[in-house]
Amino acid sequence: MIPTLEWLPEGVNFLDQTKLPLEETYVLATDYQQVATVIRDMIVRGAPAIGVSAAMGFALGVSQSKATDIASLNDEVAIIAKTLAETRPTAVNLFWAIDRMRAKYNALAEAGTSIPEIKAALIKEAQQMYDEDIAACKSMGAHGAALLPQQGTVLTHCNAGALATCGYGTALGVIRAAVERGHNIDVYADETRPYLQGARLTAWELLHDNIPTTVLCDNMAGSLMRQGKIQAVIVGADRIAANGDTANKIGTYSVAVLAKEHGIPFYVAAPLSTIDVNTPDGDAIPIEQRAATEVTHSNGRQMTPNGAAIQNPAFDATPAKYITAIITEHGVLQAPYEQSIKEMFQKAATGSELATA
Ligand code: MRU
Repeated sequence: MIPTLEWLPEGVNFLDQTKLPLEETYVLATDYQQVATVIRDMIVRGAPAIGVSAAMGFALGVSQSKATDIASLNDEVAIIAKTLAETRPTAVNLFWAIDRMRAKYNALAEAGTSIPEIKAALIKEAQQMYDEDIAACKSMGAHGAALLPQQGTVLTHCNAGALATCGYGTALGVIRAAVERGHNIDVYADETRPYLQGARLTAWELLHDNIPTTVLCDNMAGSLMRQGKIQAVIVGADRIAANGDTANKIGTYSVAVLAKEHGIPFYVAAPLSTIDVNTPDGDAIPIEQRAATEVTHSNGRQMTPNGAAIQNPAFDATPAKYITAIITEHGVLQAPYEQSIKEMFQKAATGSELATA
């Protein structure tokens, strides 16, 4: 399995995704501030991986606290949570994970649990979130595999794979599950300018699993769809609003519109932790703006004239009307999403079992 991130006795170890595909190196974060930097600098990225990283950062921060009373620890916990929450704004899994860790902490603190026991319980909680993330990906794979063609080419955008999760992947997990079930699938990976998650990361991890992969420049998908060379599209998500509108890597919206025009199914695969019922629609999703240098420079070389104005939104929102289905770990959602999302949360709350790969 691809080791995206790992809890170690001395800290949290991250595969450095800024160095892939040419170098497989690791960054050890030994305190919560370093975990925040690793998330902000995209050494780890992808919504589910960001969430579990933040949970581990939270556990690390609390476990290293020198506080001897709960009031002082409460103050530190607030700072740890704030530092981690300020790293990236779009992926709701970050806030979901911090909220879950805070809720666990609050329950333990209110019950009068000792500080050493609180520390141990938070480390266990973060490790459990890691295991749950892999199980959710496998379950998405099991639910979604049959939606992909028995034989054909599937387009994906950005990286929603093992590298974006604790293992297996969401969109790429569905592709992996289909291949494991005997589907003969070729993958087209959009390169995903400007950060090249498709070219650098998706191609790297799919080739690692011997899944045939072709890298496309982002502007090539429309023409290939028109020629009948793409049978399905599947992507991940950073935040799904209550009405099904979905924020994902910039460029996803264009792919979804193109897919609709060509009658090609467009699937989103994401765990329930990516669905934010408190955000009504795509327009309300905060979109991260990143540094202009990601656009102006490539491999350290300037590509644009001095003085050119630059846009660099990291994500866009795809309206629900373009989404054929949303694959979650508890089953497949279809429009009207407002309704199906509510029903899926109810089903999950009653303890519905995850599917196994
Ligand atoms: O900026 P990134 O690389 O963190 O963006 C990642 C994506 O947009 C992914 O598609 C999304 O997080 C889903 S990952 C399973």
